[in-house]
Amino acid sequence: MTSSQRARAAQCVPGVSSLRPGLRPSHEIQEQEHANEGQQAEMEEITFSKDTVLSDIHLRIQHKRQFMVRLNAVGQPVFQTQFKVLWGNKVLETGTNKEDISLHDEKESLPSKETTPPDVQELSSLLDDDGDLEVLRRPPSPSDRSESPCIRDVVCPTILTIGSEEDCREGASCNAEDVIKIEHTMATPLEDVGKQIWRGAFLLADYILWQQDLFRGCTALELGAGTGFTSIIMATVAKTVYCTDVGEDLLDMCKKNISLNKGLTKTAGGQMKVKELDWLKNQLCTDLEDPYSWTEDDIADLYDQTTVILAADVFYDDDLTDALFKTLYRLTHALTRLCTIYLSIERRFNFTVRYMDITCDAYNYFRNCLNNFEKISDGKLKWTVTEIRPVFPQFFCYEREHLELWKISSTALT
Ligand SMILES: C[S@@+](CC[C@H](N)C(=O)[O-])C[C@H]1O[C@@H](n2cnc3c(N)ncnc32)[C@H](O)[C@@H]1O
Repeated sequence: MTSSQRARAAQCVPGVSSLRPGLRPSHEIQEQEHANEGQQAEMEEITFSKDTVLSDIHLRIQHKRQFMVRLNAVGQPVFQTQFKVLWGNKVLETGTNKEDISLHDEKESLPSKETTPPDVQELSSLLDDDGDLEVLRRPPSPSDRSESPCIRDVVCPTILTIGSEEDCREGASCNAEDVIKIEHTMATPLEDVGKQIWRGAFLLADYILWQQDLFRGCTALELGAGTGFTSIIMATVAKTVYCTDVGEDLLDMCKKNISLNKGLTKTAGGQMKVKELDWLKNQLCTDLEDPYSWTEDDIADLYDQTTVILAADVFYDDDLTDALFKTLYRLTHALTRLCTIYLSIERRFNFTVRYMDITCDAYNYFRNCLNNFEKISDGKLKWTVTEIRPVFPQFFCYEREHLELWKISSTALT
């Protein structure tokens, strides 16, 4: 941890961060982001309650208009953001270092979109709020970076400012192959954090886009999918994606996002199914009254066909982490085929009263669970854990610091 990170983290209010390791409540972020502006008290008073979590992704973007599209069923403002996919030579070659990659047996070639739309150049030259041209900087080539393989120039997502309602219309063709449109909230209580997009979703999406051949035609299951960002990217190559989470309001939002991005996923021809899958329950929901319940056919297809399980940024509460690992255990045993699990996590540093220091409890807990998972010997399956170093190219602009990607492969013992 650098001294500046330590200083920033030390500004956190101890009481709340020790109660909730993981995602940072609003007042911590406000202190970090607005301390110099002296606006924190004002903001807390006007806008946020104590356990509100602000969107990390969007907080880093300055001077950008966000387009509020509606209020959701529980009265939270919903925004739509368009994230640009950087194809071909626009890809940010984040520390793409052959030596690093070969250590992990990854492929070295960068994918490029088969058909690059002619106006991709226009997309990279955007107008800012004042009408000035904003040009994406070309990342330095790997040969420019011999001293430090992980230098990144861009530290925030590329947001395409939505200029008119016309652009926002469902199905409106806004270079469908290069832009992913996501409805999300900016600030939500802790129990609704799935309505925001987290950086772990970008990391996993980057990996999928980089390793397209690995996932082409597969059936994938995403756990804790939130807005559906990673599932949508997976659906650009997979045959079927089961996009799962809990809560009707969240699943509605996810479904809406899938429909907003039909243009992006249609080339793969795969289907996306939004379903409820609660890690705290042993059974899949089959209640026909529930709009996101599972049919018998879905369940049979899930168990027979799934070979990939994904989960992005879902380790922020120890009880949920336990529940998720139990779910992974149950699922991998129920699946007919062997599967590979990809987990992204952000190492978050919080001040805790217990240790009177900066710790990353939720991350440490996750690592313990990962170790224990690998040690399980039930005579049926064996799991092997590998870290995939995040040195593969970025198809989305975001800050990768403290993000990690883990792969768990199952092997049959009988
Ligand atoms: C921090 S969000 C990450 C969302 C999304 N994967 C992303 O990275 O943008 C954590 C997700 O875990 C989901 N979650 C929490 N408890 C859950 C449970 N018991 N069963 C299934 N999903 C759960 C939340 O609803 C939320 O979508």
